[in-house]
Amino acid sequence: MQQKITKAVFPVAGLGTRFLPATKANPKEMLSIVDKPLIQYAVEEAIDAGIETLIFITGRNKHCIQDHFDKAYELETELEKKGKVEQVNELKSLLPTHVSCVFIRQSEALGLGHAVNCAKPIIGNEPFVVLLADDLVRNKGNKSCTQQLIELFNKQQASILAVEPVAKKETDKYGIVSINPQNDVIGNLVSIVEKPKPENAPSNLAVIGRYVFTPSIFKHLDNLAKGAGGEIQLTDAIAKLLQEEDILSYKFEGKRYDCGSKLGYLIANVEYALLHPEIGSDFLHYLKKELNL
Ligand code: G1P
Repeated sequence: MQQKITKAVFPVAGLGTRFLPATKANPKEMLSIVDKPLIQYAVEEAIDAGIETLIFITGRNKHCIQDHFDKAYELETELEKKGKVEQVNELKSLLPTHVSCVFIRQSEALGLGHAVNCAKPIIGNEPFVVLLADDLVRNKGNKSCTQQLIELFNKQQASILAVEPVAKKETDKYGIVSINPQNDVIGNLVSIVEKPKPENAPSNLAVIGRYVFTPSIFKHLDNLAKGAGGEIQLTDAIAKLLQEEDILSYKFEGKRYDCGSKLGYLIANVEYALLHPEIGSDFLHYLKKELNL
């Protein structure tokens, strides 16, 4: 029987150490690209792809994520009083009424695998998607990365990892896969390893923060030993799942920004600012003048 994907997991309990002190009291997922926090880009991508239940795995200092997706009565009343209808409507449309949020507190930041496993009681026996908000993916065609993954899942009913080639020297930042290609974009996973050194990496094909999983992933996440970096790694559970199910890799259409790194975050801000309907042309003008272009 074909199963439909309606649930998404957003692990947001990481410490965000690469952005300290900005992330001392604020989660990194609330860092904004121009005028919208990273987590909202990921949530909108999920909702546009048909997701109806958003499951946030939160940790300390994450109240503001909950607040962000909650109704802001006072703010809305103040804006209404001032006649700022457009802004009120924008705030109200953040979460459509058919979408619900679940917040699960991960008591300790034990790793991505542990975070995803915290969603098990809510997911049950259904396939689901995982989105890591610090990987921001801009659509190049008319379909988001998550939508592309869900469409592929609907055809193939298998777990899928979104992948892209990275520079060989960067393999130690990612889960790296080796594959048997089915065609230019889809491959069958042969192996996966978390953050290998370039000399040990099976390829330069990196997993980015968009995944589809069949519910079988949970039995491998249970009782998983600590892996790379002393953390419970999602990658290790994927390696175990691969021993019993086919897993696909998918070279998505879109541009990914590594907003977990300062440079990637700044590049995303510049590119999104240039595309922004309100400030894009003024910003371009400013840059040209400043850089003598
Ligand atoms: C996590 C995963 C890694 C994946 C990456 C994508 O690493 O463990 O396999 O390639 O996300 O962004 P992190 O960035 O949390 O260190």
